[in-house]
Amino acid sequence: FVSGGGSNLRSIHEATAAGGKASSGDVVALVTDKPGRMRRSGVREAQRLSGIPVVLFPRSKSAPEGVPTAQLLNALRDLRVDFVLLAGYLKLIPGELVQAYPRSILNIHPSLLPAFGGKGYYGLKVHKAVIASGARYSGPTVHFVDEQFDTGRTLAQRVVPVLADDTPEQLAARVLHEEHHVYVDAVAALCEDRIVWREDGVPLIRTQT
Ligand code: GRF
Repeated sequence: FVSGGGSNLRSIHEATAAGGKASSGDVVALVTDKPGRMRRSGVREAQRLSGIPVVLFPRSKSAPEGVPTAQLLNALRDLRVDFVLLAGYLKLIPGELVQAYPRSILNIHPSLLPAFGGKGYYGLKVHKAVIASGARYSGPTVHFVDEQFDTGRTLAQRVVPVLADDTPEQLAARVLHEEHHVYVDAVAALCEDRIVWREDGVPLIRTQT
């Protein structure tokens, strides 16, 4: 599921190719709420994914041709989707979808959650807030998705330094670079069934043996 840039989509797509880190997975569909704004890589990447269906979701005033939730669920079922990956998708995921894919939906967020997460923390706003707070470290979080923004269980994080003279753009680029690695590693673990759930509900990644 993407709304914009599509760089995480690209890195995950590349990782699913033969010899890639997540080659046991396949990208089988792209869901977007922003068909008109895919000027950067999102839909172009999907086209490069040769023939995979693009589903417009949700239906809204600005996207009347979008599908309602029940239809999206049918489409995902027909395509035999096992896992849902949010990569810069800005809309809240409806409860029906969360319930249909228990422990199977991941998101990536560009801060060390639970810091700088939740509604309003997206894009450069996250990095501006991190810099304004004086934090010395930031980094991406991969987490499972529940029915709110950025509150599901953390699966993986990477730490990057916040430098004294960082601009939000510079920090964003440093974090995004790590996103591509940490998300691919998490997706590989998901596809290879290497996620174990501790009794208290904390997910852990088993390393490859
Ligand atoms: C990333 O920074 C991600 O953490 C956030 O949205 C951005 C998406 O980037 N959720 P891209 O579209 O994958 O380039």
